[in-house]
This record gives sequence, C-alpha cells and structure tokens, in this order.
Amino acid sequence: MTGKTREEHAANLDLRHQDFNDNDFLYDVYEVMRRDTPFSHTDTPFLSATPGGAWVANRYAECYKILQDWEHFSSNPTPEASEQLVGDLVITLDPPRQQQFRKVLNPYFSPARMKALTPRIRDETDRLIDDFVDRGSGDLAQVAWRQPGIVFFKYLFGLPIEDVPLCTELTDTALNGDTEDARMAAWGGLYQHLHEAITARTTQPSQDDMIDVLLNTEIDGEKLQFGDIVGNAMLLVQAGLETTASAMSFAFHYLATHADERDRLIENPELLPRAIEEFLRYSGSIHGIPRTVTQHVELSGHTFCPGDSVIVNYASANRDGKQFPDPDRCILDRKSNRHLGFGAGVHRCLGSNLARLEFQIGVEQVLSRMPDFHLAADEDAVFHGNSVTRGFRCIPVTFTPGARSA
Ligand code: HEM
Repeated sequence: MTGKTREEHAANLDLRHQDFNDNDFLYDVYEVMRRDTPFSHTDTPFLSATPGGAWVANRYAECYKILQDWEHFSSNPTPEASEQLVGDLVITLDPPRQQQFRKVLNPYFSPARMKALTPRIRDETDRLIDDFVDRGSGDLAQVAWRQPGIVFFKYLFGLPIEDVPLCTELTDTALNGDTEDARMAAWGGLYQHLHEAITARTTQPSQDDMIDVLLNTEIDGEKLQFGDIVGNAMLLVQAGLETTASAMSFAFHYLATHADERDRLIENPELLPRAIEEFLRYSGSIHGIPRTVTQHVELSGHTFCPGDSVIVNYASANRDGKQFPDPDRCILDRKSNRHLGFGAGVHRCLGSNLARLEFQIGVEQVLSRMPDFHLAADEDAVFHGNSVTRGFRCIPVTFTPGARSA
C-alpha cells in the first residue's frame, strides 16, 4: 500500500493503482465515492481512450437508469476510442443494429442448447479436477481459469481448443498488462491470431458454431464485413472467458476459507442457484464499461454534455447499501438480489445463461469431489487486483484425496 487515502483515491479513481491489489480497500474507496457523489471523475478511464477523462457512476440507482437509457447514454465509443476498434461490435452499437447482431448470436445461448451442454460441461470440469484430485492438494484457480475457455471453444465458438491458452493469455495481457504498449500489442496479437484462424475457416465446410454464423449471416441483406466478424469474435473471447473465470475464482476462494458455508452448500444443494447470484454480485467481475452521452441530459442533479464519457461501475452498484442490505457480506441465500453483474437494459449480458451454467457446475463438481477442501496452510492464495479483470490467480487447497473420474 502506498499510503494514499480512500478519499484521495475516490477523488480520481485509477483502477490500475497498485493499492487495489487489496480488494477490500477498493470497495472502501467505492463506498466513499457512493457516499460523496453519484458521479465522480477519473483522469484514467481504464477501458477506452478518452483524453478528457470520464465520469464514473457508482450508485445502483444511477447505474440502472443509465443502462436503461441508451438514447442518451450510447454504447458507441468516443471518437478517440473508436480509432482503436476493429469493427462494429455488438457491445459498441446501439439499437436497432445492436439488436440485429444479438439475434445472430442469441440461438447459441438458448436454454435448449444450455441444457444439452450440461453433461459436457460437467465432464470437462471433472477432467480438470482429475489433474490433481488423487493427490489431495491442488490449485483451484486452474479449474476456474481453464473451464470456461475449454467449454466455449469446444462446444460453441468453433475455433480449435488448442488456441485457448494463447487466446486467454493475450486477452489477459490486453486487459491487464502493465503498460499501455503491452496492452495494445496483446490486442494486436489477438486480432492477428483470430484473423488468421477465421480466414482458415472460410475454406472449410460449414459447421454449427458461432464463427460459421458470423461468416454466413446477413443483416439487412448484407454479409458482415470481415473486420466486424473478427471484432465480434474478439469480443466473445474477451467477454466470455475472464469474466466467468474471475467470478468462479472468487467463489472457490470464499468456500476454501469459509468451511461452514462450504458445508451448508453441500448439505443444501438447492441453495446453489441463489449462491451463484450472490457470488456474481459480491465478486464484481466487471468494474466499468463506458457509455457516451449523445445529447444534454440531467441525472441526479448532474448535467451531462454530448461527448461526455460515463463509466457504469457495476461492481460498485452491486455493493450499494441502498439496494442490498449488508452489502459487504456474501450472503449465500440472499433473498432479493437484482444485481447488475450481467448489466441491464439492451446490452444485458448475452452469455449469462452459459456463464451461470459453467459457474454452477464448476462449484457443484468441486463440492462433490473434494467436499472438505480448504486453503492450504503452507502456501498463499494469489490475488491480482490492480487491473480490469480482478480475481484469484492461485488458490492452493488441500483435501482428502479422491478417485479420478475416468
Ligand atoms: C460471470 C460471467 C460474466 C459476466 C459477469 C458478464 C458481464 C457482462 C456485462 C455487465 C455486460 C453488459 C455490458 C454493457 O452494459 O455494455 C455483458 C455483455 C456481454 N456479454 Fe457478458 N458476462 C459474463 C459472461 C459472458 C459469457 C460467458 C459470454 C459469451 C461467451 C458473454 C458475452 C457477452 C456479450 C457478447 C455481451 C455484449 C451484449 C450486447 O452488447 O448486447 N458474457 N456481460
């Protein structure tokens, strides 16, 4: 810690600041931000280039309103940020075109597809647990960080499973690399890799997967530009892997350090769906995605001007005491939990059904195959926090050894 106070951080949030490797400290800063003002200002917006800085919405009520009002708070980036984009992405468009893009991808996340995927996700999770289950010790972060990529690439996306480690590493550096140069180089590397992999697909027979649908779909009678196809593939890799992985890593760490809660979930498995929602609220996978103001608009006494950038801080909103009683406690059977973990409004997470399924099965299999797991006494968990994707990179656990599944 550098000695900078909560108030100093709150006055100009820099999510990449080293102090935020302490997760509780970051949430203390959010508390100050919510207490003092509905919109604080940052000189260092963390996801898009906006030279004038950006406003940060911290409270639940304002975040929710902004997410519902796409006509004033557009997902189109600022002109400076647009320069860094490779094409039209579903997440950077507004309706009606954004809705047309969603229609293209939606069938891949349908309840029927998710139901069919359930046994496969269980098998893939079991295979990861098999890597260490008979040793009685292992790193649960390996399950959290590898399972979502394997499932997505193998059963939905349509690129080789061997690409997962490279794509995960490039995405990680692109979001969390130490310098802007490192981050930009990783974005370039990911673009290049996906460009080549998708180009290779153009000469192969059709398959039932997302790459195929992006290559062949028509919107308003026209096929997508190649840059849009690669850009949306990049978005899916970025949106689908690290978010789920980091949320799952929080849950594993929490259960490894709260034996009574772990046992409660084992004894009452019907609590699991609620617990997953609470983990999503509590762990805060996403700390902000920007909106660009399109026309003068007033919200909670603040007048926004066209061109202003506003970051919706879902993680802070999810700890707002006005919406969630006892917000800093992880209450596994929390009753009313309208969290913003998956956003709200027209851009609400497209992959939420998949994320929930991967997450729930991940927790179920760990609980059933190593029911007495707990944090290892001789090795520390590693948390990576001064970054956009925040989560545990190493969760060393010990448990009674179990049998491999195959
Ligand atoms: C725990 C895991 C996840 C979390 C916390 C999460 C969170 C979010 C949030 C907050 C948004 C809204 C963005 C906005 O308001 O601009 C979003 C959008 C999106 N998510 Fe997720 N997500 C997760 C998993 C996934 C997965 C597994 C996929 C797909 C493989 C996915 C694909 C998308 C896409 C494509 C969008 C853009 C939708 C649009 O703009 O209409 N997400 N996600």
